[in-house]
Amino acid sequence: MTQWDGIYKSFLSGGSKWATLGEGIIEPFQAFMKSHSFLQKNALDIGCGNGKYLLFLKQLGFQLTGLDNSLTAIKVL
Ligand SMILES: C[S@@+](CC[C@H](N)C(=O)[O-])C[C@H]1O[C@@H](n2cnc3c(N)ncnc32)[C@H](O)[C@@H]1O
Repeated sequence: MTQWDGIYKSFLSGGSKWATLGEGIIEPFQAFMKSHSFLQKNALDIGCGNGKYLLFLKQLGFQLTGLDNSLTAIKVL
């Protein structure tokens, strides 16, 4: 089990949100993405965790691929 897998498991068992688990999409990234246009909208998120950045990018019309080595992360949203 990775350290992050333990963090996700702990949260699912009623533990506290830790680090990025308790954060939304950081504002500078939102501002950058909303103020630029893209010829192609494909995104690869390595270490996507629970996929919140993927959901944000989906709303902007991106085709998405997310990778994470925690099998538990996808259960957390
Ligand atoms: C700081 S968290 C960020 C999660 C997400 N991007 C976010 O902002 O909420 C780091 C993530 O990277 C994943 N990770 C760490 N090492 C990895 C590796 N070698 N391959 C794939 N994912 C990895 C962890 O499981 C964790 O979900």
